[in-house]
Amino acid sequence: MSQQTPEEPPIGPVGPAPARMYDYFLGGKSNYTVDREAAAKVLSVFPSALTAARENREFMHRGVRHLARDHGIRQFLDIGTGIPTEPNLHQIAQGVHPGARVVYVDHDPVVLAHDRALMASAPEGATAYIEADVREPERILQHAGKTLDMERPVAVTLVALLHFVRAQDDPEGIVRTLMADLPSGSALAISQGSADLDPRLHEVQAIYAERGIALELRDRERTEALFAAGGVELLAPGLTVSYEWHPEFIGEGEYPRPANSMTPAESGVWVGVGLKP
Ligand SMILES: C[S@@+](CC[C@H](N)C(=O)[O-])C[C@H]1O[C@@H](n2cnc3c(N)ncnc32)[C@H](O)[C@@H]1O
Repeated sequence: MSQQTPEEPPIGPVGPAPARMYDYFLGGKSNYTVDREAAAKVLSVFPSALTAARENREFMHRGVRHLARDHGIRQFLDIGTGIPTEPNLHQIAQGVHPGARVVYVDHDPVVLAHDRALMASAPEGATAYIEADVREPERILQHAGKTLDMERPVAVTLVALLHFVRAQDDPEGIVRTLMADLPSGSALAISQGSADLDPRLHEVQAIYAERGIALELRDRERTEALFAAGGVELLAPGLTVSYEWHPEFIGEGEYPRPANSMTPAESGVWVGVGLKP
């Protein structure tokens, strides 16, 4: 049974939230009027937001498929999971390895309210959900260790998350802590909002800021620094726009959009996947 978020939050007042706005951009129904109002404002200055959200999500699909299928990774720690949107990460990973184990983490209670969809693991594998803030990486690792074998490779996926972590909260330090003790063969996937790809992202940043949400845009160099902090080497093609990251790694029955029909604004994020040597 699907859990629908009511039209208005049960107790107010409440502001828009990144998880619910992203759900709206992806065409989901788990969002409130405040989220739709903020999302409409974003679309008025950055009409590519809908495509950018979809392309970001599809980068996650392809990255996970590649890590599972071509690098044999069977364990995933997905932080900043978002409201469930099919296919969810475990469905992609378990589509390759039914025994894959996935730990989801988000700090927004609305994601917890929908966690049943994230817990519907294949019987051979396992999924778990942790309500936690990425700024407490030690606590996340400690809980993840109940589901994942931390002596074996783990892919840490921080997809459209780190632009909600301010510079003063030390995102490099967070990534370093998350990756430091993982064994060789572990992976790190990141997508990160950047005004390099469209200066109108600064206007989007202002819309979020007016609503109390810090959106931290990072240029190419600062995004590469996140991978360096994780101690990983970027897989080809390196840091790129979402739709250019291995469009051929699509699922069965899917068709790639021709990359030459897209613009950097329709990515809005730098993306990359790295492996720990
Ligand atoms: C734009 S959504 C991305 C969802 C999913 N990773 C994807 O790319 O399809 C960002 C998610 O990060 C979560 N988030 C933001 N800041 C966070 C934090 N400090 N700790 C944990 N989760 C956070 C939000 O609640 C939201 O669900």
